[in-house]
Amino acid sequence: MLVTAKEMLEKARDGKYAVGAFNINNLEWTKSILLTAEELRSPVILGVSEGAGKYMTGFKTVTAMVKAMIEELKITVPVALHLDHGTYEGCLKCIEAGFSSIMFDGSHYPIEENVEKTKELVAICREKGMSIEAEVGSIGGEEDGVVGMGECADPDECKRIADLGIDMLAAGIGNIHGKYPANWQGLSFETLAAIQEKVGKMPLVLHGGTGIPEDMIKKAISLGVAKINVNTECQLSFAAATREYIEAGKDQQGKGYDPRKLLAPGAEAIKQTVKEKMEMFGSVGKA
Ligand code: 13P
Repeated sequence: MLVTAKEMLEKARDGKYAVGAFNINNLEWTKSILLTAEELRSPVILGVSEGAGKYMTGFKTVTAMVKAMIEELKITVPVALHLDHGTYEGCLKCIEAGFSSIMFDGSHYPIEENVEKTKELVAICREKGMSIEAEVGSIGGEEDGVVGMGECADPDECKRIADLGIDMLAAGIGNIHGKYPANWQGLSFETLAAIQEKVGKMPLVLHGGTGIPEDMIKKAISLGVAKINVNTECQLSFAAATREYIEAGKDQQGKGYDPRKLLAPGAEAIKQTVKEKMEMFGSVGKA
């Protein structure tokens, strides 16, 4: 069933585990993630970036596809359909398309503008019964070959945004999208603890979940993280399994070129990655 992220995250925060938010990029991805969540009886969040939404021919298509898959695959665990790092306009489109949850990423705006836009979207989400995530600080990552370490969030700014009535808060704590560089300093637990002190019981979100070691994940959960986003790791496992299939020449044996066969090893690899993450995040059996 499609639910808001709010209800699953409040339970997760109180139960000291985190719900995985896995980005979907196409049908295979969505199916693999949903079936794994069902098998493990874990709640799950399907993240959709604006680029992926466009790739899947638009947010309305994504909503219809996810709703139909939940029904036809008989998925009974809670599933949230969530816009990942949305622009203001993207948030409005997803609200209209029937997503159950959105993220407004106003972290690149000056704080006053972030507050204003977040406030407007909170009002709309309240009215529609949807949940909303906001971001403070920035998540690092690679852009044009330059690796940014991200900007740690200011705990006072976190409190200002949290007090607007959002349901979950993403805060930069030294986390990075994509693969972590060899010289990565790790998460700043000092920042996370200071944020938690200011925002109290607000569920916190850890982006850039790919490659974060288990001990850091566990510590982050103990400090209020209730949602962990993973994308690159599923992409990497899909690509590796597909490459192995092609390099073994399997696409040239019989009808191995049939996309149902060609994409199967990648889809299985995503299931494995999602399973490992759900076990690590502690969400197995929590549906
Ligand atoms: P990774 O691609 O590093 O796993 O990050 C995913 C993410 O945070 C999506 O918002």
